[in-house]
Amino acid sequence: MDSREPLVQAAWNARQNAYAPYSSFAVGAALLAADGRIFTGCNVENLSYGLTCCAERVAVGSAIAAGAREFVAMAVVADTQTPISPCGACRQVMTEFSVPTVILANRDQRLALSLTELLPRAKAGILDLPE
Ligand code: THU
Repeated sequence: MDSREPLVQAAWNARQNAYAPYSSFAVGAALLAADGRIFTGCNVENLSYGLTCCAERVAVGSAIAAGAREFVAMAVVADTQTPISPCGACRQVMTEFSVPTVILANRDQRLALSLTELLPRAKAGILDLPE
């Protein structure tokens, strides 16, 4: 079995708990910490749409609350034709905690991208001096 599959499966399991009554679009995420723990998230929507939390940020919050600080990979899954890709806000939040790799998955495809591919120069102009 591909070594990424347990993480992807954890994301599918979390997706079952998605609270998405407004979009009906369920997303699951799973974040692998350096110590081997897996933290999961699902999207949590709100009547005030802008308050919706994406699955990835819920997983990050869960990990940070449990004391994890070092991460290996984030998997994000949805039942889409092409693998789902995280929004800009989630890319920025994953950058804060240096998640190196993001695995985008649907039922039968997996695409592993580096976070710097997904969000290049994320800290430039915010936390870092320009080069
Ligand atoms: N969503 C996520 O949870 N993660 C993504 O990567 C993309 C979008 C959620 C937000 C909202 O609840 C629903 O999917 C539709 O955008």
